[in-house]
Amino acid sequence: MRPAIRPATAGDLPALVALDEVCFGSEAWSTVSWTGEFERRSEDRVILVADEGAVVGYVVLLVPPVALDVVELLRIAVTPAERRTGIGGQLMTAALAKCRGRTVLLEVAASNESAVGLYAGFGFEEISRRRGYYAGGEDAVIMRWREDEE
Ligand SMILES: CC(C)(COP(=O)(O)OP(=O)(O)OC[C@H]1O[C@@H](n2cnc3c(N)ncnc32)[C@H](O)[C@@H]1OP(=O)(O)O)[C@@H](O)C(=O)NCCC(=O)NCCS
Repeated sequence: MRPAIRPATAGDLPALVALDEVCFGSEAWSTVSWTGEFERRSEDRVILVADEGAVVGYVVLLVPPVALDVVELLRIAVTPAERRTGIGGQLMTAALAKCRGRTVLLEVAASNESAVGLYAGFGFEEISRRRGYYAGGEDAVIMRWREDEE
């Protein structure tokens, strides 16, 4: 069964906090942080979830209201047991559908092969690096997507 991709609702908050903890461990966003993301939905945040009865994935975008401003893909994750079944791709497709005519930037750890592979498959290209940006000295890769480069 393919999950439905839909906007997050307030009732999803506990599930998102729990799934974020599973996916990011010590780097997970706290309940306070997630609450802040939800509160900013009326300004510039877009939160989509993959729902198959339970929330199995999510993506968070910062979409400034000014069309010339770049969109930032802040977070995307899929529950470990259901990775590599296309859910990340479903979430990316839905997210990029909200970015028509925009430029989208994201930052990813250089060693995160699954995420880099996902992004590259959607036409994101590396535009720069922040050397030694992460704890442990790992590089951050900055990737960019533009609709006309799809
Ligand atoms: C990145 C992530 C969201 C991908 O989700 P997913 O549901 O597994 O992705 P999909 O099954 O839709 O895969 C889409 C494509 O991404 C690429 N990809 C996904 N996992 C990959 C892996 N482990 N290695 C290489 N490429 C991979 C492939 O090109 C894949 O297409 P294919 O299966 O036809 O080869 C998931 O691995 C995840 O939650 N990772 C932990 C959280 C994270 O690091 N998020 C990114 C930083 S915010």
